[in-house]
Amino acid sequence: MNRRYRKTIIAGNWKMNNTLSQTKTFAEEIKPIMPKGKWCNVVLCVPATNIQSAVRLFKDCHIAIGAETCHELDHGAYTGEITAAMIKEAGAKYVIIGHSERRQYYNETDFTVNKKVHAAIEAGLIPIICVGESLEQRELGVTMELIAYQVKCALADVAPEKVRHIVIAYEPLWAIGTGKTATAEQAGEVCQAIRTVIRKQYGAHVARSVTIQYGGSMNAKNAEELLAQPDVDGGLIGGAALKPADFVKIIEAANQE
Ligand code: PGA
Repeated sequence: MNRRYRKTIIAGNWKMNNTLSQTKTFAEEIKPIMPKGKWCNVVLCVPATNIQSAVRLFKDCHIAIGAETCHELDHGAYTGEITAAMIKEAGAKYVIIGHSERRQYYNETDFTVNKKVHAAIEAGLIPIICVGESLEQRELGVTMELIAYQVKCALADVAPEKVRHIVIAYEPLWAIGTGKTATAEQAGEVCQAIRTVIRKQYGAHVARSVTIQYGGSMNAKNAEELLAQPDVDGGLIGGAALKPADFVKIIEAANQE
């Protein structure tokens, strides 16, 4: 983390978990244990049906709400889809874009990710852009090239003053939901490489403002070590964000000096 130049953001990704009543229970449980005082920014990305209620439920404890995806267009005949403007009007501040599960199961490509990033920014949402390599790609030694390609594609034609405010989440595919975490060195190395890609494209001023998270089996035990890396500015947390006590421990790790 480097709080001097950029925000530390701990974001939960609930995926397809938690009904509205379960969301209420989560809010009741987390409220009394949320750390007070020094805050890192805390976000919960929730199923679309819960956004509006979650905004209200988590307001008191300063948890901002995000969506888990959005469509790239601003309206149209796309049954089942929702636009960035719909998400914004529901009260969300963030939207996850290009999560590996979306890439894997819903055919999202680097090009659709770029379109969605533009749609999110246009609607006034902060995109949390996910990038990451598979185990095969890591073993082949192409991680850095792949990540650079994903970041460049995602940010194509995005203005520098907008890039400053986006969030990038480095999520190695082999670490998501597997209980297998990247080592702090591996996470730090790739997050640093992401900042270098941004610096080359947009300059040092923009690069040092961008929040770069690590995601993939981050939990109460390993958060502190991962967040100690200078280029790891937070986490995108799946499983451990479903349990209030675990999520709070990660927030506490991010609040440390
Ligand atoms: P995990 O999920 O923490 O359960 O590995 C992270 C993510 O998919 O964003």
